[in-house]
Amino acid sequence: MKKLKVAVIGCGRISVMHFGAIIASEAAELVACCDIKADRANAAAEKYGARAYTDYREMFEREDLDAVHICLPHYLHTAVAEYAFERGVNALCEKPMDIDYEKAERAVRTAEEKGVLYGVIFQCRYNNSAKLVKSAVESGRLGKIISARSTLTWSRPDEYYKESDWKGTWDKEGGGVVIDQAIHSIDLVNWIVGDEVASVSCSMANRGHGIVKVEDSAEGLITYKNGVRYGFYCMNNYGCDEPIEIRLLCEKGKVVFGYDDAYIEYNDGMKEEAHQDGEAVGYEGQKDYWGFQHARQIEQFYKACLGEEELEISGKEALKTHALIMEIYKQGGMK
Ligand SMILES: NC(=O)c1ccc[n+]([C@@H]2O[C@H](COP(=O)([O-])OP(=O)(O)OC[C@H]3O[C@@H](n4cnc5c(N)ncnc54)[C@H](O)[C@@H]3O)[C@@H](O)[C@H]2O)c1
Repeated sequence: MKKLKVAVIGCGRISVMHFGAIIASEAAELVACCDIKADRANAAAEKYGARAYTDYREMFEREDLDAVHICLPHYLHTAVAEYAFERGVNALCEKPMDIDYEKAERAVRTAEEKGVLYGVIFQCRYNNSAKLVKSAVESGRLGKIISARSTLTWSRPDEYYKESDWKGTWDKEGGGVVIDQAIHSIDLVNWIVGDEVASVSCSMANRGHGIVKVEDSAEGLITYKNGVRYGFYCMNNYGCDEPIEIRLLCEKGKVVFGYDDAYIEYNDGMKEEAHQDGEAVGYEGQKDYWGFQHARQIEQFYKACLGEEELEISGKEALKTHALIMEIYKQGGMK
């Protein structure tokens, strides 16, 4: 079986989930990694067995790559993805697609024009809980969704922002709790509702962070063309990372789910549930609130690169949630 030659660009916090999945995969071989911080690139190269680079352009020049994993600060995502696409290389990019809508849309077009694959990480869609809820909605078992709501209360104290040279900035992160943390729960609802957004009414504020200016709290109502009303609330001033919670009120039942578990109660008394299973992988003690399904999504991306399956979370698919996130910022009025 052909092994894809892959590289990771950005050897920071999330990269361990990518490195771990690459090493575990039969479909790929890690050949290189890159970080502008040489110590990070060298440490990852030594640990995972790859060549280290501090300039991704040089890496593309010297390596014969099939795919790259982009684990960079948000504002660099589409610039580096397009650099890969221009060279005929597939790219799997961490969320969010970018901090801008037009750039993300252009990257989707570039990938299409160059005939390469553009995958975007939304690993929570691969949680057993989310998969059960999606299938219960799609099969019609739950009837139409009437309302949805999501809550996220996590902790990102000033110390978290102090450690980073890009998080908590409008020009590099593109926002705060919405674009970085709540994006997964908003994506899950947007994916499960699966309809076009009609309107967004929301507010956001920085209510408790001294050293950054981006929003740390947001709430709003998203109305879909099919009539679904989705209320969201998120804040990262809480004292710990509580499990996220999403609820759906449907014609034929009610759903409550998070990253680990899903519980469905149908109006006729029937019940269904799903839980995180042993396949869930959190490399090197990485935090469970991220959801552990990077490995599943990365494997699906590889299968698509090898022509065995259709790519599930393509740039075009991810653009739907990206458009919603950008609209939340537009209506939120802080940017
Ligand atoms: N899917 C998830 O659940 C999840 C969780 C955490 C982070 N993320 C995403 O992963 C991405 C990275 O986040 P992180 O927390 O790992 O950030 P990080 O700051 O820890 O890592 C980013 C790395 O990129 C490097 N870098 C910056 N500019 C570069 C350049 N031009 N060339 C090469 N390297 C460069 C930095 O030196 C740093 O090591 C973000 O998009 C973030 O939203 C996703």
